[in-house]
Amino acid sequence: MIPGGKKEGPQNPQQADVSRRRFFTLMGLGIGWGGFVAALGGTGVGALRYMFPNVLYEPPTVFKIGKPEDYGIGVDNKLKKERQIWVVRNERGMYVLVAICRHLGCTPNWFDDQKRFRCPCHGSIYDVTGNVVGGPAPRTLWRAAISLDPVDGQIVVNFNQRQDPDPKGTDEGLMVEEAGREVPPFFLKI
Ligand code: FES
Repeated sequence: MIPGGKKEGPQNPQQADVSRRRFFTLMGLGIGWGGFVAALGGTGVGALRYMFPNVLYEPPTVFKIGKPEDYGIGVDNKLKKERQIWVVRNERGMYVLVAICRHLGCTPNWFDDQKRFRCPCHGSIYDVTGNVVGGPAPRTLWRAAISLDPVDGQIVVNFNQRQDPDPKGTDEGLMVEEAGREVPPFFLKI
């Protein structure tokens, strides 16, 4: 019983129809707002991606590698992985070899006991100056340009400015006269 003495009972057909309509109206509104919010979210994500695009960050091609006194006589291997170079120092000064094989671009390894760079891909062999003393490489290793920063005294390497002289075919391999290579900006007299 409900107050007033009327019996509770099933809704009459008119009431049921109104409830159904309200239900569908509310549901329709819900779907509409949901779509609106989703569209807004999509736009927001698009705007964010526009502000922070997918950029491939290449390592800089001009970089500093410390001071000449940081390097002893011989081949320094420590920047091979990070910068793709070897820093070489002899009695006269320093040069930088690019650690890219001139055959098909693999990365050779330095063997200090043999004083040779050896490429693991097809067996090219280079001496400490970059001359080809074995294997299929058609040219000597590149040397990158180097200079001294006048402010902090660090060595600056320009990876993309490279010395690439024509080698002579000899019994020992493909050779370039060292005197012709120890010239600025590919050699730092110390
Ligand atoms: S890539 Fe070095 S020998 Fe072929």
